Amino acid sequence: MKVIDRFEVMRELPGAFSSEVQLIRDCDNGVEYVLKRTPGEPFNDFHHEKLFYSYLKEIGVPYLKIYTSPLCEPDQFILEYLKDSYSLGERESNNLYFVLGKYLRRLHHEEYDDSYRFVDGKKNLLSWNDFIDETKTYLNYKYQKYQVEKTLSLKYLRLIDQVASVRPKYSRIHGDMHSNNALVNNNDLYLFDPSSFLIVGDYRYDICRVLFSLPGVYLGNVEKGENDSALWDSFRTGYGLGETYFDDDFKNMLILTCVENITNPFTQYAPALLDKVLEIDTL
Ligand SMILES: Nc1ncnc2c1ncn2[C@@H]1O[C@H](COP(=O)(O)OP(=O)(O)O)[C@@H](O)[C@H]1O
Ligand SMILES: [Mg+2]
Repeated sequence: MKVIDRFEVMRELPGAFSSEVQLIRDCDNGVEYVLKRTPGEPFNDFHHEKLFYSYLKEIGVPYLKIYTSPLCEPDQFILEYLKDSYSLGERESNNLYFVLGKYLRRLHHEEYDDSYRFVDGKKNLLSWNDFIDETKTYLNYKYQKYQVEKTLSLKYLRLIDQVASVRPKYSRIHGDMHSNNALVNNNDLYLFDPSSFLIVGDYRYDICRVLFSLPGVYLGNVEKGENDSALWDSFRTGYGLGETYFDDDFKNMLILTCVENITNPFTQYAPALLDKVLEIDTL
């Protein structure tokens, strides 16, 4: 018997990018769940997602319940379904960004000596230099796939070399903290869909991904509105990020975030933002 023998597939859930996400219904009792399949991912998504929710539980932050079933294929798992929820990106507010800051701060509160991920259930350490090398290999592949012009791709890869100089500060992280990976349900915020690449990494990676979601902070009212600066201020207040956060390491982490998202179809402002970030010394 497979998942689809016990559960009825109701529909695909919109918004999935790298995964296949379906709403399913238990034929025995009518309860709805989310069935997620992450094909072709090099690392163990289920393990990271499970660990991530256990971290959230530990620190008193809302989390999704996650299940495996012998009916699941190795690349499938089942999540609690948050009915009538919407993503943070769909309905942004100062209050929700404040809450996002508060929750991320709790996730980041404990410093770690090393960065790591889990592969086939085993902890794999990842040094900063290996992370940089891996990022370059991955970006090289992506730039070829999306046919990024040679001179530009070389410029981006050289910038990653510059990021190697960062002195990493590790904690548990989400690793893909954009505004569609937080669901709003009953006025609370559920962080979900963490990275399958890292479970402990540099926490500025998360902060910069949030900032990158708010391009108006640097580019003005280009993409979607002039309130990005207010949302960012709310996030910073919730996180407790003071006025002096923007140092060389932070700038390099922000450069890394831009460069990683150059081929992201949802963030076409990435090259313009990168150029702006390269120009500035402080906010
Ligand atoms: N547990 C859930 N409850 C409600 N909606 C969900 C749930 N999980 C995923 N979704 C919806 O499916 C979309 C894609 O899920 P996600 O896990 O982010 O996939 P991807 O890895 O492709 O980004 C989300 O943006 C959200 O709208
Ligand atoms: Mg997602």
